[in-house]
This record gives sequence, C-alpha cells and structure tokens, in this order.
Amino acid sequence: MRKRTLGATGLEVSELSLGTWGLCGDGYGPVEESEQDAVIECAVALGVTLFETSDGYAEGEMERRLGRLLPKGDAVRVATRIGTDTSTAPPRKKFDAASLKAAAERSRERLARDRIDILLLHNPAPSTLARPELAATMSELCASGLALTWGASVGTPEAAAEAVQAGAPVLELAYNVFHRRELDHVAEQVKAKNVGVLAHSVLSYGLLCGAWPHGKVFERGDHRKERWSDSELKRRIVQLNALRPSVTTEITSLRAVALRYVLSHPAVTSAVLGPRRTAQLDQLLRDAGKEPYLPEGGRIALENRTRTAGVQP
Ligand SMILES: NC(=O)c1ccc[n+]([C@@H]2O[C@H](COP(=O)([O-])OP(=O)(O)OC[C@H]3O[C@@H](n4cnc5c(N)ncnc54)[C@H](OP(=O)(O)O)[C@@H]3O)[C@@H](O)[C@H]2O)c1
Repeated sequence: MRKRTLGATGLEVSELSLGTWGLCGDGYGPVEESEQDAVIECAVALGVTLFETSDGYAEGEMERRLGRLLPKGDAVRVATRIGTDTSTAPPRKKFDAASLKAAAERSRERLARDRIDILLLHNPAPSTLARPELAATMSELCASGLALTWGASVGTPEAAAEAVQAGAPVLELAYNVFHRRELDHVAEQVKAKNVGVLAHSVLSYGLLCGAWPHGKVFERGDHRKERWSDSELKRRIVQLNALRPSVTTEITSLRAVALRYVLSHPAVTSAVLGPRRTAQLDQLLRDAGKEPYLPEGGRIALENRTRTAGVQP
C-alpha cells in the first residue's frame, strides 16, 4: 500500500482509505454486522491506514465499531466529521464553538482514541466557513489535544474555496471523472497552500463500475433510488462509453479507470473508498495498480471524451 503526505499536516496516510458510510447501512441499505467488521479488519490487514467516518453514521455506532476494531496508536489514522445535530428532526447544522467541542469529545470517546487525528466540519455553508471564529475554534480544539489536525468536508465549489481561504489544512470533497467541480475550482489554491485532499465518491456511487443495466432499479433505503431519474441514469450509463477506450491489458475494468483517474490527480492525498463487502475492497485495492496510474496523456484524453459525451463535471 503506497502512502502519501496529507498536505502541510505532514501525516503519512495510505493512498486508499476506507470510508464507512456504505458500510454503516445508512446510505445504501443494511450490511450485516459481521461483514462490517470483516471489511474494517480486512482493510487494516491490507495496509489501509486511514479510516473515514462521521459522528452521524449509524447514530455514532460506526465510530464505536472503529474504536473497537482499529489498532490503537498512530499506525492508523481516523478522520471523522462533526457539526450536525441529529437529535432534532430534521437534523440541524451546529457549528458554534460549544457544540463543536462537545461533539468532538463525544467522537473521541466513541472512537476510543487519545485524540482524533483529522477532525472535519461536515458540510458547512460557505457563509459559515467565512466566519473567522470557526477556524479559530477548530485550531483551539487541536491545540487542546482533542484533535491533531482539522479540515472541512465540502459539497460545493464555493464552500471548498472558503475552506481553503479559512486555512483548513485538510479538504474532503467528491471527486470522480464525472464530478470534478469542487477540486477543479480550488486546485491552484490547494497546491499553493499545500492542503491535504481526501477524495470520496470515486465511483460515483457505483455508477462508474459500468455494471448496471439501463433499467437498473434500486431498493428502498438506497440513496441512489432518489438520486437519479430513470432517464438521467440511462443517460449516465450511456456516457460511461467515454471511459471504455481507457481499459487496457493493465487497466482491466471501468472501475480501475475510475479509481486510477482519481489517484492520478496530483492534489489528491487519498481516495476514500466505499466498499460494502470484503470482495469489493479486494477488487479496489487491486484496481489501483501502480504508477503511472494512467498512461501519459490518458487523463486529458479521458476528460476530453467525457466532455464530448456530454458529461458536465
Ligand atoms: N464527506 C462527505 O460528505 C462524504 C460524502 C459521501 C461519501 N463519503 C465517504 O466516502 C465513502 C465512499 O463514497 P460513496 O459511498 O459516496 O461513493 P463510491 O465509493 O463512489 O460508491 C460506493 C458504492 O460503489 C459500489 N462499489 C464499491 N466497490 C465496488 C466494487 N469493487 N465493485 C463494484 N461496485 C463497488 C458499491 O455499490 P453497491 O452497494 O451497489 O455494491 C458501493 O455502495 C463513503 O463510505 C463515505 O465514508 C463522504
């Protein structure tokens, strides 16, 4: 497992990390507890050293599970996200200093670690990120020993830009060959400020594996049921043809093309994977291959083909 440095934080983390949203059952439907444990243990055994979660996943149960299963100490790092109060319906964003401190303390306890390695704000609005007291609060939480470093998980280009401007050492964002807008928007500033980047949704929720029929139907409780209309999903499945010329004897599947595309971005520190079964994790680790992830000119050719296919990344 190759490692990369998480920007100016200096932390060394595996270039493939384990995200736990799919595993926890909240987003895609239930996963057997034994399988959740198996995926986490398998990731540790295969050399994954960064685990990504949120205080809201399975109402905190995923943090507890990681706390129970991950080795103690600095051999593995955990990134978790705070800032959403799920005790109200609908859940409310809470980014005031007292709420963030209380949430960080609860996460640290559930994770059973001396401190949280990477404490991320969970989808703050650009206007929230622009408040100078927010960065000050996160820096204080780090200075107090609750966390080692902090950052923001962002959902729009504007929020990404505000987070970098606010001095966040780490940025988490969606990045894949069909969705590039946040990273594209801040790539230069990220480079200039040496911000660590965690890229999630690298398979566009599984779409980029190219294994779905045109009439793919998702179960109730799977977020993908609401994400795309039938015609939109069909259009995206056709657009996948733009990836096919990148498949070679070395890069043997669309899934591998999609993952290697993310890993080949110079600003990306770690691709946050979302396997829900050990077999999926095994496949993804093999798919990553080795450098160069794509042949010379491969990134640009792929982007050009997606543009021609009508993808608006
Ligand atoms: N910071 C944030 O706001 C944020 C947002 C989203 C995600 N994340 C993190 O990033 C992680 C991954 O992101 P994601 O779930 O959005 O998207 P993703 O990784 O693009 O897609 C996950 C889905 O891809 C499919 N998949 C995974 N491995 C596969 C394989 N080897 N072969 C075929 N299909 C495979 C699975 O679909 P099936 O279930 O159909 O098998 C899985 O549910 C999450 O677990 C979460 O921890 C963070």
